[in-house]
Amino acid sequence: MNPRIPISHDPVSLGDYEALAAERLTAGPAAYLFGGSADEISVRENRAAFERTMLLPRVLVDMHEASTGITLFGDEYAAPVLVAPMGFQRLFHPSGEIGLAQAAAAMGTGFVLSSLASTTIEAAAAAGEGAPQWFQLYFQPDRAATLKLVQRAEAAGYRAIVVTVDAPVNGIRNRETRAGFHLPENIRAENIALAGLDLPPPRPGALLGGLLDHAPNWSDMIWLRQATALPLLLKGVLNPEDALKARELGFDGLIVSNHGGRVLDTAVPPLLVLPMIRRAVGERMTILLDGGIRRGTDIFKALASGANAVQVGRPIAAALAVAGPQGAARALRILLDEFAVTLALCGCPDPSQIKPHSILPLPGISGTAGAGYTREIAGGTS
Ligand code: FNR
Repeated sequence: MNPRIPISHDPVSLGDYEALAAERLTAGPAAYLFGGSADEISVRENRAAFERTMLLPRVLVDMHEASTGITLFGDEYAAPVLVAPMGFQRLFHPSGEIGLAQAAAAMGTGFVLSSLASTTIEAAAAAGEGAPQWFQLYFQPDRAATLKLVQRAEAAGYRAIVVTVDAPVNGIRNRETRAGFHLPENIRAENIALAGLDLPPPRPGALLGGLLDHAPNWSDMIWLRQATALPLLLKGVLNPEDALKARELGFDGLIVSNHGGRVLDTAVPPLLVLPMIRRAVGERMTILLDGGIRRGTDIFKALASGANAVQVGRPIAAALAVAGPQGAARALRILLDEFAVTLALCGCPDPSQIKPHSILPLPGISGTAGAGYTREIAGGTS
């Protein structure tokens, strides 16, 4: 066989979808989807953290009653997987958020709608009807506008509010700048445009022209907590002290995330800090992780490190770009099947049985997800 002739095949992994999307998308949307901040070191390290964490299988476990399913805030999911909030999904496929909401609902995974959605809150909810969807909130320059978004999400039936706090300013997006990325005229943040919101004019002399004047702080989180009865999760937490503070303020959950490496380059990979955060907040708080999930084994490693569930971003949008809602559904199917195989081979009948000692860091690497737990095993606490 001539090795120079590429062999075409249907995508069999999330990486295949990413490679195909990178070929098919035009330069601007491709840079927006796949890029990270500055030198994209966090993007790479998010993956490396998973690649340097190894599995410790169990054999001969009875798997008769095995299942990948979980419950979050009273709702059932086919697996501990949600589609991460991503803005402007119509950049990737005309169906945009509608297509991804349909795909997630078909596969029984969660779907988190971004504040920067290019579809209305209500239309996305209708597309995913019957499946639990969450709404991701970016604080708006005034509380009335913020509250209006929350109330629309509540009225449309979203099951939780995720407030993202790690991007009060845009990251340094060199890849996007080099590609000359800008939003096309026909794609905009529908819900924010509908609310008639605009950024305040720059304030000369202030840091970043005063852009941070309207950035939320902890007092806004206290306000938000009393503004909604829905489960409330803080997204973009990497520091155990912030995690503890969120718990004290009555947040129901955390999303341990560096925004997929898109905001602050060299921000630590979430997998590395997850065990510390779990230890800090205790067992009862719901924790999700995102950033670099590409395989079913990655989901397993995140759960072994202390997460209840994960979010996956770029590869699912890539699959939407390649083959529309069916492609996104197929990518989720692949991920769920891989997770089921991992559970089987690691001898875990369901996600709640995944234990910290199911993973180990590669020798010579300190500070990785397994390391903290390895010390606990030595100390006899797990
Ligand atoms: C994002 N992310 C994001 N997060 C958020 O809270 N609100 C948003 O509007 C967006 N928008 C967005 C757009 C695109 C194109 C991407 C790729 C990501 C971050 C996202 O929710 C998540 O944290 C990361 O994507 C997870 O990393 P992976 O799975 O993409 O590696």
